[in-house]
Amino acid sequence: MILPVYLYGQPVLRKEAEEVTKDYPELKQLIANMFETMYKADGVGLAAPQVGLSLRLLVIDGDVLKDDFPECAGFKRAMINPVFLEKSADTDSMEEGCLSLPGVHEKVSRSKSIRIQYFDADWQAHEETISGFAARIVQHECEHLTGHVFIDNVSAIRRQLNKSKLNSIIKGTARCSYRAKAVGK
Ligand code: NI
Repeated sequence: MILPVYLYGQPVLRKEAEEVTKDYPELKQLIANMFETMYKADGVGLAAPQVGLSLRLLVIDGDVLKDDFPECAGFKRAMINPVFLEKSADTDSMEEGCLSLPGVHEKVSRSKSIRIQYFDADWQAHEETISGFAARIVQHECEHLTGHVFIDNVSAIRRQLNKSKLNSIIKGTARCSYRAKAVGK
């Protein structure tokens, strides 16, 4: 089932997300719905707050980026309660977008490699070292679980330059090719 994507301005995107409990009802179905929603919107990652649920849960599939970023080939994950174990001091800056901020693209500095622990959809624990653009996607999605979005990381000047776009997203007048839920609508 395709879920509406909550857009910038929605309070749920500003909340610290809650741990997912093992008895959370129909978690596998929710994960399947999140993947379906992400694919339909041509995204490579989606965090639960983006579908209105303040939960520490995210899905990623970076495979479509493999021509530009070979490390993304087959990088498909559902991560429950992810925790960073390490983030490299070494960073790089690349352009990002977000399904909750349609039409906004800005360069963001992120760690080049990370080590993370999480549970998968079968509640199997994983510890994984991830680098390159795949690490960027994970950091972007995990940021959603802390009540932040990528535009928070850019300079005040760059944010100002995006102000009218951000206001149109809030008002619900921004162009968006997928089912979305703006504050103003
Ligand atoms: Ni995002």
